[in-house]
Amino acid sequence: MIKVNNLIKKFQMGDTELIALKELVFTIPEGQFVAITGKSGSGKSTLLYQMSLLDKPNSGEISIDKNDIIALEEDQKIVFRLNNIGYIFQDYALLPSLTASENIALPMIMKGIDQQIAMDRAKESLDKVGLRDKVDNLPNQLSGGQQQRVSIARSITHKPKILFADEPTANLDTESSEIILHIFKKLNEEGQTIVMVTHEPEYAQFADRIIELQDGNIISDKLVKK
Ligand SMILES: Nc1ncnc2c1ncn2[C@@H]1O[C@H](COP(=O)(O)OP(=O)(O)OP(=O)(O)O)[C@@H](O)[C@H]1O
Ligand SMILES: [Mg+2]
Repeated sequence: MIKVNNLIKKFQMGDTELIALKELVFTIPEGQFVAITGKSGSGKSTLLYQMSLLDKPNSGEISIDKNDIIALEEDQKIVFRLNNIGYIFQDYALLPSLTASENIALPMIMKGIDQQIAMDRAKESLDKVGLRDKVDNLPNQLSGGQQQRVSIARSITHKPKILFADEPTANLDTESSEIILHIFKKLNEEGQTIVMVTHEPEYAQFADRIIELQDGNIISDKLVKK
């Protein structure tokens, strides 16, 4: 369902040009849980940005369910993202003045969904990540792991085709990290396609497949033995 072909991303810094992604070619079938690993600076976040329409590559092709996402106009990209993409950031990216349920409901309300329906769906999503009792908590009244669970709940309410996560456990202790990984595992078992960047080899083992980057190249692409 995701096809990446000859993907190139360059950054121009003064006179020097850095090629962050070097003609990457791979496909991700629907329902797969993929971990992207590699050293700092290897291009993991850059790759996620290109696949989730947050940035535009220099050349190459990316299609999601046969939609050529690079060819979309800016306003079409916004609509495509709202409907098809879920994105989880390392730092949760919650709005501090909104409660857990309001943070989750906001993107739905922005899409024009009735406020009451949005709040009901927000509570269902919080239930899915085990935080039903925290609906009215503000982000600063939640632990880091709980904030990340709210951010996951927010990213799945619109049933995205693909869930992207960039180092979702980077700021968390082992116990909270494992809770997050188990949530991903459960979502994947329910059919959710997931692309997750992680530094931790043991967390990559939760995935079906591990793609390793080095200096913008794929140096290994393996299925995880179960
Ligand atoms: N906006 C930018 N301008 C210039 N160079 C950039 C930009 N974004 C990334 N780079 C460079 O591209 C390369 C890949 O960066 P990227 O952020 O994708 O690495 P990463 O694998 O996610 O690293 P980390 O594990 O530290 O998050 C790095 O050399 C980085 O310095
Ligand atoms: Mg990164």
